[in-house]
Amino acid sequence: MNIEARSPYYSELRRQSFSPGWARPEPSMWPSPKPRFRPAVWRFAAAKAALDQSGALVPAEQTERRNLIMVNPIEGNTYATTRHLVATYQCVRAGETARTHRHSAAALRLVLDAKPGTYTIVNGARVDMLPGDVVLTPSWSWHGHVNTSDATSYWIDFLDIPFVQLSEAMFFEQYPAGGLEPVTAQGPSPFRIPAAEALGPGRASTTVEVAKGVMPTIAMHLVRLAGGSHLDAARTTTNNLYAVASGTARFSAEGDVIETLASGDLIAMPCWHAHSIEATEDAVIFRVSDEPLLQKLGLARTAGT
Ligand SMILES: [Fe+2]
Repeated sequence: MNIEARSPYYSELRRQSFSPGWARPEPSMWPSPKPRFRPAVWRFAAAKAALDQSGALVPAEQTERRNLIMVNPIEGNTYATTRHLVATYQCVRAGETARTHRHSAAALRLVLDAKPGTYTIVNGARVDMLPGDVVLTPSWSWHGHVNTSDATSYWIDFLDIPFVQLSEAMFFEQYPAGGLEPVTAQGPSPFRIPAAEALGPGRASTTVEVAKGVMPTIAMHLVRLAGGSHLDAARTTTNNLYAVASGTARFSAEGDVIETLASGDLIAMPCWHAHSIEATEDAVIFRVSDEPLLQKLGLARTAGT
């Protein structure tokens, strides 16, 4: 602390909760994004092994959800995967349920491994969950999970909780009757999007946006890449999460190869990282981003434009 900062004048400013704008220790604006979050990878095999172990260690009654949060390994972060989104690996064991609740944070999931008989009850409607399905629970919709099959089901959850925490508009409640909401609606649900149906037949590279506009803060894209082909993404203000739904793909950021990801693996690709995805074999990749949030705020921007 310099002499100025110790003078009675500056002490008095601090006492009154003022900070002199001319003597800030760090600037509050800068010419272009300086993302604190960094590219990071999580492996489904590791998550699966750890979740399976948790079965013996943590009784179901002790946990709202049996999940592992993918915490971006930057200093001071204890939760978020990228700035506005969090991703978790979750399992529901054979015969178990995860009780119904709702929250102002929007959620969706990509099913990795599940046998018939696994479903989410969303506002009274049964939404089946099979590998490759994207299942949505928009803000404030009741949802609980059920597994009546004879094997553990696994999926990746994506939520905008870090953004909702930042906004302080957080609400959460348990189902008033407790336990699981009963199934009261039948028929196909608009909240279930099977990847194979969304992408259509063939193996040609294509990108399809799914459930556009359903989640005000989150965009979802299914990317199919034929083996040997690649997809390049410019530097933008969008924060991306990529999960490999099938096949394998090599990810690079700012020209450096990060790692090759297999089915179920996830990579965080924070804003302002030009990146490339190269399919090392035919692959389907699920991209979840905060693009609509930034667009609504007038903050969507691409380098050089
Ligand atoms: Fe939830």
